[in-house]
Amino acid sequence: MPASALSKTERFLLTIRGEQTDRPPVWIMRQAGRYMPEYMRLREAHSFRDLCLDPEVSSSAALLPLELLDVDILIIFNDILIPLEAMGLTVDFPDGGPRIADPPRTEADLERFRAVTFQNPPVAHALRRLRERSGGELPILGFAGSPFTLLGYAVEGRLSKNCDVIRGLMLEQPALAHAMLDRIADTVVSYLVAQVADGGATAVQVFESLGHILSPWDLEEFATAYTRRVIQRFRAACPDTPVIAFARSSAASIEAMERTGADVLGIDWSIRLADARARTTRPLQGNLDPLVMIAPDAVEREFERMIEGFDWRRGWIANLGHGITPQAKVEAARRLVQCVQRLADR
Ligand code: CP3
Repeated sequence: MPASALSKTERFLLTIRGEQTDRPPVWIMRQAGRYMPEYMRLREAHSFRDLCLDPEVSSSAALLPLELLDVDILIIFNDILIPLEAMGLTVDFPDGGPRIADPPRTEADLERFRAVTFQNPPVAHALRRLRERSGGELPILGFAGSPFTLLGYAVEGRLSKNCDVIRGLMLEQPALAHAMLDRIADTVVSYLVAQVADGGATAVQVFESLGHILSPWDLEEFATAYTRRVIQRFRAACPDTPVIAFARSSAASIEAMERTGADVLGIDWSIRLADARARTTRPLQGNLDPLVMIAPDAVEREFERMIEGFDWRRGWIANLGHGITPQAKVEAARRLVQCVQRLADR
């Protein structure tokens, strides 16, 4: 099949259906970020909040990976913590990671931690602007944090190494944790639906980014049970829109993630692609170690090792196994995209 026969959106949707295409689609988690000098220039001119909330600036950031890397999929520039503000929390984005000034930790805090229904939120405006500016031909992802990932950030109030506050809450006040997860889950469903119904997103990704701190039984009870509920309710509202679910520690969590009902499983680099394929029938997304992106000359070799023994011809969206880091080189990201583009010739 000649490459020109498929638009990027067709290639993406066929891949999600498990059908063979000319080559896999490729994008990079956190593809617009601080590893790009062009992103840093945008950040000098605008606050991080504007990058998330202003449609013009947000779409400019989201377009950088298309202009600089030629990726096949765009992701709206936003942050998983933005909907927590609508729920009543005060979120700031200083250097060194996001901060929540008033983390909810008691029954009394439920008063000011409410489920929210979104109608045409700023992210939907940004998605429409991104669609216009990208020419309408590329798949555009909306996204949200999973309920547990958002609970973790809300309760800790910051990027936390040992996550003791959230674990303490789960162990000592499980009913409160579940009450908060209920509210977050309702909010996340509405945020995802708004990105599709108001914003026109092609697909959505749910980031189960904190599940790897949990035992298998807590992962089920506090994390994937809620992600499953989010996906079920999202699907009731947007039955034709694919859902990608990303999680860490995939070697341990892949079956639990499959049970969320997601259409595509985003996996990290704890497992070989070929082994992941043997454990799920779902299309996969991933999973190169993000730190390979610090070494451009290692990309081709590591890419080949990643796909060894794996039928990359169907059901695979090429990506990293987690977000690209600020230390990454743009040249390495470009080479990763080229490795995938060259699969069309094999
Ligand atoms: O992929 C993309 O290009 C879209 C943008 C995107 C951002 N955050 C922009 C961002 C996405 C998809 C996210 C998701 C996100 N945000 C997650 C889940 C991601 C995952 O990889 O599992 C989490 C846990 C957050 C919360 C968050 N926001 C953290 C922990 C940080 C600080 C991290 C860091 O790298 O410093 C942020 C800030 C943030 N969100 C930045 C970007 C580009 C860096 C902020 C800056 O420009 O100063």
